[in-house]
Amino acid sequence: MKLTILGGGGFRVPLVYGALLGDRAEGRVTRVVLHDVDAGRLTAVARVLGEQAAGDPDAPEVSFTTDLDDALRGADFVFSAIRVGGLEGRAADERVALDEGVLGQETVGAGGIAYGLRTVPVAVDIARRVARIAPDAWVINFTNPAGLVTEAMSRHLGDRVIGICDSPVGLGRRIATVLGANPREAFIDYVGLNHLGWVRGLRVEGRDELPRLLADPGLLGSFEEGKLFGADWLQSLGAVPNEYLHYYYFNRETVRAYQRAEKTRGAFLRDQQGRFYEEMKRPDTAALTAWDRTRAEREATYMAENRDAAGAGERAADDLSGGYEKVALALMRAIARDERTTLILNVRNRGTLAVLDTDAVIEVPCLVDANGAHPVSVAPLPDHATGLVCSVKAVEREVLSAAGSGSRSTAVKAFALHPLVDSVNVARRLVDGYTSVHPGLAYLK
Ligand code: G6P
Ligand code: MN
Repeated sequence: MKLTILGGGGFRVPLVYGALLGDRAEGRVTRVVLHDVDAGRLTAVARVLGEQAAGDPDAPEVSFTTDLDDALRGADFVFSAIRVGGLEGRAADERVALDEGVLGQETVGAGGIAYGLRTVPVAVDIARRVARIAPDAWVINFTNPAGLVTEAMSRHLGDRVIGICDSPVGLGRRIATVLGANPREAFIDYVGLNHLGWVRGLRVEGRDELPRLLADPGLLGSFEEGKLFGADWLQSLGAVPNEYLHYYYFNRETVRAYQRAEKTRGAFLRDQQGRFYEEMKRPDTAALTAWDRTRAEREATYMAENRDAAGAGERAADDLSGGYEKVALALMRAIARDERTTLILNVRNRGTLAVLDTDAVIEVPCLVDANGAHPVSVAPLPDHATGLVCSVKAVEREVLSAAGSGSRSTAVKAFALHPLVDSVNVARRLVDGYTSVHPGLAYLK
């Protein structure tokens, strides 16, 4: 089985390869092709993978290329994990917004719109090529903003593209653990958009255990999201939001904290990972050791220097124990081997949330089998959540439309309609600011 990884020079690729190395079952991935637009990053990561595989005769064979069509040919699965504009681009997404006094963040608010505007045209090109060159391949989209990018790709690939995120799984796992339930046996009633969803129930053998959590301030204070949102607010909501909802519910505090921070998250990662790729230019660098060290420093340093009230305090621990790669592998196995399972994924709505049309990509528990991911029916969202989901989906649609037409005024509309952008004038200045720093936005006229 052949797996192609787009963004193959990315820092997290060794986590994916590590997960593949742990898979010994029949039908596992035997060939990995890394693709990246940056040959230097590609060779750096390929060296890390080479060291990971050392001494393992069954390790999946690894090759790499900068030719996208070559990479796609014959692929059974494609992981799309690109970062258009790199971490430099992410840092600029964050900075331009913060300078305008609005949230500057990778996926939420103005920063997420800028990232989406840059990424959608590239993702659409990839989707078109997959449809032509590897029409039977399944595409697993890791690229953020994951819901929006998955929707853009689904217009060319239908339900053969599935978006993933580690945050709902992590949230479900933390809630289950606090309740003393086995995360594998619990059904997490979670729905929304990517980075904009709510856990409304956690069922074990048909019994909803969430009310027990919501009734107990002690339990609520004992896990990440409980601390982040506070017991009172969770009790008012009657649900546990994804950690990214903090940017909506505590926007003002987050913006201030981010403005005060010495570096944005993107700038921190850019500098830190930049040192790793620099180090890898020397032929004598022990690749795996350098990668491991960078990865450990990554969270520790950032948490010590910059983490604030808005930070996802314990996510570091989840990150290190692996998130995305586990979801991706579970999804790939379920499809490839018809190992039926339930996973929270980004897929087309198909009637699941009545307020959204059938093609809107949502994040929802899905039954996965050899025929793909099928959203399970869930209870409707409460009005406050419906309001946010509908306005953010409307913004995503403006982004898709601007990316398709190249219309600058549609891009302004996308920013201006976002609930976290508080003035049309700000939206205009954001478009000016972003187009002046991002070469990837030159298409907006
Ligand atoms: C979580 C989110 C991802 C996001 C990542 C950012 O895992 O689910 O969508 O990309 O955090 O982590 P970073 O270390 O890049 O700030
Ligand atoms: Mn995510």
